[in-house]
Amino acid sequence: MKVLNLPGPKAEALIKRDKAVISPSYPRAYPFVMDHGKGSEVWDVDGNRFLDFAAGIAVAATGHSHPAVVKAIQEQAEKFLHISSDFYHEVWINVAEKLAAIAPFKEEALCFMTNSGTESVEGAIKLARYHSGRDNFIGFLGGFHGRTIGAVTFTASKYKYHQGFGPLMNGVTHVPFPDPYRPLLQSLPGEDYGETVVRYIEEQILDKIYSPDSVAGILVEPIQGEGGYVVPPPGFFPALRKLCDQHGILLIVDEVQAGMGRTGKWWSIENFGVEPDIVTSAKGIASGIPFGAVIARKSIMTWPKGTHGNTYGGNPISCVAAAATIDQIEKHYLANTIETGAYTLQKLKEIQSRHPCMGDVRGMGFMIGVDFVEDRDSKKPADELRNRVERLAFERGLLLLGCGKSVIRISPPLCTTKEQIDEGLNIFEEAVSLAENE
Ligand SMILES: Cc1ncc(COP(=O)(O)O)c(C=O)c1O
Repeated sequence: MKVLNLPGPKAEALIKRDKAVISPSYPRAYPFVMDHGKGSEVWDVDGNRFLDFAAGIAVAATGHSHPAVVKAIQEQAEKFLHISSDFYHEVWINVAEKLAAIAPFKEEALCFMTNSGTESVEGAIKLARYHSGRDNFIGFLGGFHGRTIGAVTFTASKYKYHQGFGPLMNGVTHVPFPDPYRPLLQSLPGEDYGETVVRYIEEQILDKIYSPDSVAGILVEPIQGEGGYVVPPPGFFPALRKLCDQHGILLIVDEVQAGMGRTGKWWSIENFGVEPDIVTSAKGIASGIPFGAVIARKSIMTWPKGTHGNTYGGNPISCVAAAATIDQIEKHYLANTIETGAYTLQKLKEIQSRHPCMGDVRGMGFMIGVDFVEDRDSKKPADELRNRVERLAFERGLLLLGCGKSVIRISPPLCTTKEQIDEGLNIFEEAVSLAENE
């Protein structure tokens, strides 16, 4: 397999200029300097081609520069770029109608438009407090919800997201996420591990920390993203929904990474058979144009005029990009995600059977995690090995991104074909073989 000499001279020169003027806080994975992209392929500034199995952290849902998305943006740009959320316009209403139509609950939906995932989460937190008149929340260890002060308080995937930024928001307690591969709690005989976690919330948190009638909401990713592409057991969400109903607690699902078709359903919560109260979206929703939404039941989005707003919410460029993205996902890519995602999972399981360092392969649709371990008995995370796989794949023309402690995420654009999966997984397996022996 051809090994690329990276970074090339143009990439190296740009990285030098970048270092001089850009904040050092960005978590750059490796020296990929983008020139252009098409579908699931990207090229760097030195002319090297890569398959993109990261999609800009699960954002390029329709692939890079999808012609329908680009056309919608170009046409809208000729008309107007901005008018502010003080006024009305049609493309904003169009996208809200589309989102309301696919909202994962039967009740009518209302939408609040944002510019990012973290802003969607902030909006959901404020809405839950405003509507319920309650102060407190429950979040999950390993969760990632963004980096503004409210959202980052819920984020609990790495301590560095908190260290140095305190004091954080009051009224948030974290509990274990139901990770069936590395469970933290002890189940009762015959108990689903998801039910164990809900029992822990009920018996410990709602007894010892918060009175149930002081809890505004439980904020949860239906499938944890940044925390390691962790899929909860089937009993979790039905038990959590029941607990929320019992105590009037709002179930807020963060679909920023797992939503918008990535798991083969519009929203990942639909894989678990329960209806949430509030949904947060961003990332894949507009194929890369900054855009997000808080989608809530009409009976919950009760905040009156002037209580919450923003300058760019409903920006026309973002709205047409989102509308075109939703159309393309509906017409072509939901079906492809189900079929090619299942193919990818099966191929990865075959590769796993040849490599003991691949402890767990899990996921749904195009949201698949490979958890690297020192050995399958101890399940000790092999983070160094994971990092080597990421680098070796990059040098062979495949973009991958890690998550969790020792996981590689396979999150390609939803348009990725079986041929591209085969090509990418050949590189992946070679990278794993080399990393094992390095
Ligand atoms: C589940 C989830 N929520 C929120 C966010 C924050 O989104 P943003 O980076 O657009 O603020 C992310 C980003 O990775 C995410 O994965």
